Amino acid sequence: MSNKSRYRFEQMQPTAVIRGIALFEGFISREEQAELVAQIRMLAKAAPLFSPQTPYGRPMSVRMTSAGQVGWFSDRNGYRYAERHPEGAAWPAIPKPVLAIWRALVSEMREPDCCLVNYYGEGARMGMHQDRDEADFDWPVLSISLGDDALFRIGNNQRGGTTQSFWLRSGDVLVMGGAARLIHHGIDRIAFGSSPLLPNGGRINLTLRVAL
Ligand code: SIN
Ligand code: MN
Repeated sequence: MSNKSRYRFEQMQPTAVIRGIALFEGFISREEQAELVAQIRMLAKAAPLFSPQTPYGRPMSVRMTSAGQVGWFSDRNGYRYAERHPEGAAWPAIPKPVLAIWRALVSEMREPDCCLVNYYGEGARMGMHQDRDEADFDWPVLSISLGDDALFRIGNNQRGGTTQSFWLRSGDVLVMGGAARLIHHGIDRIAFGSSPLLPNGGRINLTLRVAL
């Protein structure tokens, strides 16, 4: 897709735009959030959560799995998209209600190849990074927050510089696209137990990516 193409979120009114990231607070209703959690539970039965190793040899505190053609993976050999779960099975299909959110905010022209599922238990965090393992940065990354509140930090397209943080709450959706597609971002911490959505606490983040 060319740079001139327009995605749906660009024609919509986000609740906030922060350093080019479009934030849609409360985009997903409580009923839809519960349905998404049910879908993610099924997904995680087919493709169990695991703790990827960073290229530096430490396990990440966030547990992950994926759905779609490819799944995001990391180990000593670096970050990449893999065709199979580490236990060998193909990744399950991206749940339909998740694809519906992509269509509503991004496009019907192409489906994402990957839905990365991040699970943050108590104390989990994610360091500042860019999403840059995808082949085509013209496509935005769409991120869905479910469960406990998370303090999201954003920086700049280059490493370093000033940063800004804000809380993401259950049902919020954000889109990193255009000039903000390669912005550095991370999760400083979650407020464990702040949301009743997951009975045992924690946070699920889904990111939809056109990876291939
Ligand atoms: C990510 O950058 O992969 C996750 C961001 C988040 O958990 O909100
Ligand atoms: Mn990311």
